[in-house]
Formats: sequence, structure tokens, C-alpha cells
Amino acid sequence: MSSVTVRVPAKVNVQLSVGPLREDGYHDLVNVFHAVSIFDEVVAKESESITVSVSGKWSDQVPVDDTNLAIRAARALAKHAGRTYGADLVIQKDIPVAGGMAGGSADAAGALVACNELWGLGLPFEDLMEIAGDLGSDVPFSLLGGTAVGTGRGERLSELPTGGTFHWVFAPANGGLSTASVYAECDRLRDASGAQVPWPQLDDTLMEALGTGDAYSLGAHLSNDLQAAALNLRPELAPTLDAGRQHGALGAIVSGSGPTCAFLAIDATHARDLALSLTTTGAAHTAVAAHGPVHGATLV
Ligand code: C5P
Repeated sequence: MSSVTVRVPAKVNVQLSVGPLREDGYHDLVNVFHAVSIFDEVVAKESESITVSVSGKWSDQVPVDDTNLAIRAARALAKHAGRTYGADLVIQKDIPVAGGMAGGSADAAGALVACNELWGLGLPFEDLMEIAGDLGSDVPFSLLGGTAVGTGRGERLSELPTGGTFHWVFAPANGGLSTASVYAECDRLRDASGAQVPWPQLDDTLMEALGTGDAYSLGAHLSNDLQAAALNLRPELAPTLDAGRQHGALGAIVSGSGPTCAFLAIDATHARDLALSLTTTGAAHTAVAAHGPVHGATLV
């Protein structure tokens, strides 16, 4: 096999509850991930060494050096297999970079699946999940897709049944936010308030809304403990969220650590209308309609 292509979705967090800061610098989470139909494509081609190149919407913002998560994923897989392998990784980017939609994690998950196939390793899904968890807290979910609750750092996943398709609009912001800096801002705000940080709990009403496919209830119960921190770092996001609510979004939230804003729509037509309203009124410079849940990293 000389070339393998994998398609990997973005995610939004419909519940992101952040526990106290741990000694290892991470936070225990209750993180309800939902995979949505904005995709990066990772092509792995036979090569002597492991390299990456990026094309598409956000390509100028992606590092192509050793910090690139897809390169790190391919290296980790080769190490796991105990041999030296090469691959040219070609990423077609559609997921916003540093946008809170797990774009880097998607590319890492895509590289794992593509190189497993290209190199004929035949490693089982569980092995890929283990390597993924070491690469980053969101990488296992990019492999799995669907809707799932993540605990621990977010890497320990249980799949959640959903009762239908949900329709979304995503408004990427200009420039990204570093996940670490948003968590740090969250800690700073909590320290300043002096309030006790509760242990994160799964929201039962949100679970029911997902299970029955009730978009109205899901919209009313979206929650993100990182939102206040993201808004503090990027105050211009607050009017974008407000504009979405005014245009009938059932819920409006910062996606993960941001700065992408996510809006839950009533149906596909409403999502298209909402995206148009957000851009024509200037509330967002760009807005994309998408649906979820969708499959995780998939060979195409
Ligand atoms: O796991 P990942 O590399 O994606 O995490 C990036 C950063 O986000 C971490 O270095 C940490 O600062 C923060 N983080 C956290 N708690 C988590 C996940 C991430 O504090 N559960």
C-alpha cells in the first residue's frame, strides 16, 4: 500500500466540568465530547522518514516541526511497534487551529490510523487508544467519535447513546487560544474568588436530552467551566454568543477552551439561516453549519 487516507472529525464539548488542579498540572474532568461534521483529512504516503505538510483553510497556523502532533503520533506508533518507519503525512485542514475543536488531536488520531494501515501493523483499536491518551487528553476521543463522556484528564472514555442528529453552527475566531493558558486563567479566576471547586459531576438532564435527541433541552443545559476564562482572555466573544441567542440558537457556548463559538440550532435549515445571520450582521466573520454525532477517525 503506497497511500492511505483517513478522515477525522472536530468536536464540541456539550458539558465540560473542570475539577480542582491536580499535582501533575492537569484537572480531573467530566467532559462530554460530541463529534461534528467538520473534518480534517490525513493522507499517509510511503517515505523514508516521517514528515508533515499542511494545506487548506488554516494551514499557515499549523507548525510542521517536531511539535506537530501528527508527527509525534506517527513517531509514537513506530516506537510502539519497535521499528523505524517513514511516512509523508499530508493534512488537509478544515478544523480551526487552536480553536477548542480538537483540530491537532484530530490530526494525531488520523496519523495513528493511517500509519497503522500504511505500515501494515494491524494494531487493535485498544492499542491505538492507549498511544492516543499519551499524546494528548482529547486524542482518544478523536479516534472514537460519536458522543462520549471523558473522565480523568478526559482520556478515559465511555460512549453515550444519542437519540438523533443535532444541528450546530460554529464561528471560528481570528487567532487561536492555547489550551494550557485557558486552564491557567480558569485556575486564576477560581483562586481570586476563593470558592471551593466542586468535584465534577455528569449532568443527568443533559444525558437525557442527548438520549432522547431533545435539542431544546440540550441547548438549555450546555455548560463549559472554561468559558469564563476564555471570555476573560477574548472579551469580543461575548457579543458573538449573544448574537447567536438573539437569532434563535437553542444554546450558545464557547467550544472547549475556545475561541470558537458553538451554537445549537433547531434543525438543518435553522443552522444554515443562523450561520448566514451571524456573518451578514458581522457578529462572526465566518460561520459553518455542521451536525453531530459523526464517526471518529475513519479510513476512506
Ligand atoms: O492533554 P493536552 O496536551 O491536550 O493538554 C494541554 C494542556 O491543557 C495541559 O498542559 C494542561 O495545562 C491543560 N489540561 C488540564 N487538564 C486537562 C486537560 C488539559 O489542565 N484535563
